[in-house]
Amino acid sequence: MRLLSTPLTGSLVGELIPPGDKSISHRALILASLASGRSEIKDLLGAADVKATAEACRQLGADISTQGRLTIVIGTGEKGLSAPAKPLDMGNSGTAMRLLAGVLSAQPFDSELIGDDSLCSRPMRRIVEPLTQMGANMETSAGGTAPLLIRGNAQMHGIHYEPSVASAQVKSCVLLCGMFASGLTCVSEPGLSRDHTERMLPVFGVPIEHPCCVRGGGKLRSADIHVPADISSAAFFLVAAAMVPGSSIKLLNVGLNPSRDGIFRVLKAMGANIQIENSRMAGEEPIADIQINYSPDIHAIDIPEEWIPSLIDELPALMVLAATCKGTTRIRGASELRVKESDRIAVMASGLNRLGVVHTEYEDGIDITG
Ligand code: S3P
Repeated sequence: MRLLSTPLTGSLVGELIPPGDKSISHRALILASLASGRSEIKDLLGAADVKATAEACRQLGADISTQGRLTIVIGTGEKGLSAPAKPLDMGNSGTAMRLLAGVLSAQPFDSELIGDDSLCSRPMRRIVEPLTQMGANMETSAGGTAPLLIRGNAQMHGIHYEPSVASAQVKSCVLLCGMFASGLTCVSEPGLSRDHTERMLPVFGVPIEHPCCVRGGGKLRSADIHVPADISSAAFFLVAAAMVPGSSIKLLNVGLNPSRDGIFRVLKAMGANIQIENSRMAGEEPIADIQINYSPDIHAIDIPEEWIPSLIDELPALMVLAATCKGTTRIRGASELRVKESDRIAVMASGLNRLGVVHTEYEDGIDITG
């Protein structure tokens, strides 16, 4: 692969609404497909991952169409999902695969989840283990990866699960399965991962019992969801504006859920000229506008390990900022980056290497000297 670069000639100035939040988009489609009646989702992300979820939901019986900014979902409701005629292709999306596995393991029919080479190399035992405890019958490859062959079991039972990693995909998989299981299903995480599922379930009529439990047998009713702009997409503009002299960007309607706002805290701690304006709610999700200007005083920090789950997807963008600022930025406790769509620590280290940036790679992070 050749590394291409075009010198930037000006500053970055303007206002924009980043694309819809990917995590919230997947969840809105899945819950609307399970609900009875018509749900309207505004500003659903139009990316391949979310299209894979939409296509799977269609194959399971939901009617999904678009009208401008709206996605209309007629859910399967009382009738329930129908058996898919062919394997469900999750493409590159770990969220689609793990969340749908939770739903499908508790259905009265069999199904198969497949994906691309990257997805088929990602760890699935982390969901197979709790789902099996709940009564699921699933097969993976010998290495514990997809394809996932799911023999549906409509007699699942609730568990109290304590995952070893803070993963919203694992938590959501277990909670979604818990909606179809008998009794109570609870998840206690080692750190708080994004809580979009817990916020959205009550909107569709399924209460979350304190602290993170769902009772089986609830019925989902239709709901309207406005998807906030994705802070993970905003991250690239935030970093670019902070780095490039003369820049001033306002990002509108950005999701600032406290379980996702770690990048904002890190940018503040690094000395960025960043402000949150017009904080408000979009349904159950906090959103705001973010103003960021060129930040000449940006400096390195040690990113606190407890912040990592709230900025896991934003770390590659922050590594770029770290490469241009004074001092050594330390990132640790981020070994999950190695099992994303790519090994994001190795990929970033190789890019930094080619650009001549001093860095040291660790199993669970990286030090970068700007
Ligand atoms: C996601 C959770 C995170 C994140 C991913 C989306 C979600 O993954 O990295 O991009 O929508 O639940 P993990 O659950 O593996 O931490």
